[in-house]
Amino acid sequence: MHLLFLLPITALVALAGARPASQSLTPTLSQVYETTDTIPLPNVGNLQVHDPNVVFWDDHYYLFKGGWHVPYFKAANVSGPWTQVGTVLDGESIIHQGNRSRPWAPTTVERNGTFYCYYTLSTHGSRNSAIGVATSTKLDGSPWKDHGAVIRTGEGNGSDVWPFTISNAIDASFIRDNATGKAYLNYGSYWHDIWQIPLTDDWLSIENPAKPDAVQLSFIPGQTFRPEEGSWMSYHDGYYYVWFSHGKCCSFDVRGFPVRGDEYNIRVGRSRTVRGPFVDRDGKLLLDGGGTIVKRNWATII
Ligand SMILES: *[C@@H]1O[C@H](CO)[C@@H](O)[C@H](O)[C@H]1NC(C)=O
Ligand SMILES: *[C@@H]1O[C@H](CO)[C@@H](O)[C@H](O)[C@H]1NC(C)=O
Ligand SMILES: *[C@@H]1O[C@H](CO)[C@@H](O)[C@H](O)[C@H]1NC(C)=O
Ligand SMILES: *[C@@H]1O[C@H](CO)[C@@H](O)[C@H](O)[C@H]1NC(C)=O
Ligand SMILES: *[C@@H]1O[C@H](CO)[C@@H](O)[C@H](O)[C@H]1NC(C)=O
Repeated sequence: MHLLFLLPITALVALAGARPASQSLTPTLSQVYETTDTIPLPNVGNLQVHDPNVVFWDDHYYLFKGGWHVPYFKAANVSGPWTQVGTVLDGESIIHQGNRSRPWAPTTVERNGTFYCYYTLSTHGSRNSAIGVATSTKLDGSPWKDHGAVIRTGEGNGSDVWPFTISNAIDASFIRDNATGKAYLNYGSYWHDIWQIPLTDDWLSIENPAKPDAVQLSFIPGQTFRPEEGSWMSYHDGYYYVWFSHGKCCSFDVRGFPVRGDEYNIRVGRSRTVRGPFVDRDGKLLLDGGGTIVKRNWATII
C-alpha cells in the first residue's frame, strides 16, 4: 500500500527564507558559544540540506531541498544514504521573479498519486518573491509540469492585492482541514510574518485571487524586523500545529552570530481549527509574538 506523510523531523530542520541583511548585531564571543545537552542532535544523513522536505511514498523517503531546479533524493532509511533522483524543474521556473534557477524551500504533497511541489523564488533581503507549483505523477526523475505562480509579492500579477501588499511570498507549506479535506497554503515571510490562504480544489491556485480569505498565523508586534518564516503545519489528535522559524537567519560568520535570545530557533503553536488563532504552551497568541521553542522535550507539547 502506498502511504505518504510528512515527517515531524521536517519541521525540526525546515529552516528557510529571506531576510533583510541590515541587522547590526555585535555579540561578544562569550555570548556566541554555548554548550547544551538539551537540543536534539541533527540527522546524520549524508546530505547537507537547506530547507528540506521529506515525503514517504512506496516504502521510500523522498527528500526535496532548495537548490538548482529543486533537487530531490531517495533513500530507504530517513538516515540515508540518499541518492539523487533528479530535479523538479528541468530549467528555470516559468515565473519571471526572484532567482528563477535556484528556488528555495520546496514543500511536496501528494493526492491520489499526483505530487504537488510548491517552491519559492526570491532573493535575499527582498520581498519581490513568488510561490510556484509543479506537479508530477512519478518520482523517478521524469519531468514535472511547472504550473507557474500561485502567489506573488512585490511585483507581478496579484501582488497589489492584500495581504500580498505587505507580506513576502516565500516558504510555502500546506495543510488540509481534517474534517473537510480543504487545502490551504501557508507562507511567509519576514515581512509581516506568516499567513494562510485557501487553495482551489485543484491545489494549483488560490481562491478568490482578487480578495483572498487570508488569515495571519504569526506576527511579532512592536519591532522593525519581524523574523518569522519557514512554516510547516501538521495535524494531530484534534489540533493543528504550526511550526516556524524565529530569529535571525543566515549570512553571519562566527563573530557575527546574533545575541542570545535572537538566534534562529524553531517554535510551535497550536489551534483546534486550521485557521487559528494559534497559541503557544503558555496560551500566548502567535499573533502576539508567542511560540513555544522546540527542545528535546518537544514531544511533551503534543
Ligand atoms: C536506519 O539507519 C539508522 C542509522 O544508521 C539505523 O540505526 C536503523 O537501524 C536504520 N533503520 C532501518 C529500518 O534500516
Ligand atoms: C541564483 O542563485 C544562485 C545560487 O545562489 C547563484 O549562483 C545565481 O547566480 C543566481 N542567479 C541569479 C540570476 O541571480
Ligand atoms: C484517482 O486517480 C485515478 C487514476 O487516475 C482516477 O481514476 C480516480 O478517479 C482518482 N480519484 C479521485 C478521488 O480523484
Ligand atoms: C492574473 O491573475 C488572475 C487571477 O489569478 C488571472 O485570472 C489572470 O489570468 C492573470 N493574468 C495574467 C496576465 O497572468
Ligand atoms: C484526518 O486525520 C487522520 C489522522 O491523521 C487522517 O488519517 C485522515 O486522512 C485525515 N483526514 C483528512 C480529510 O485529511
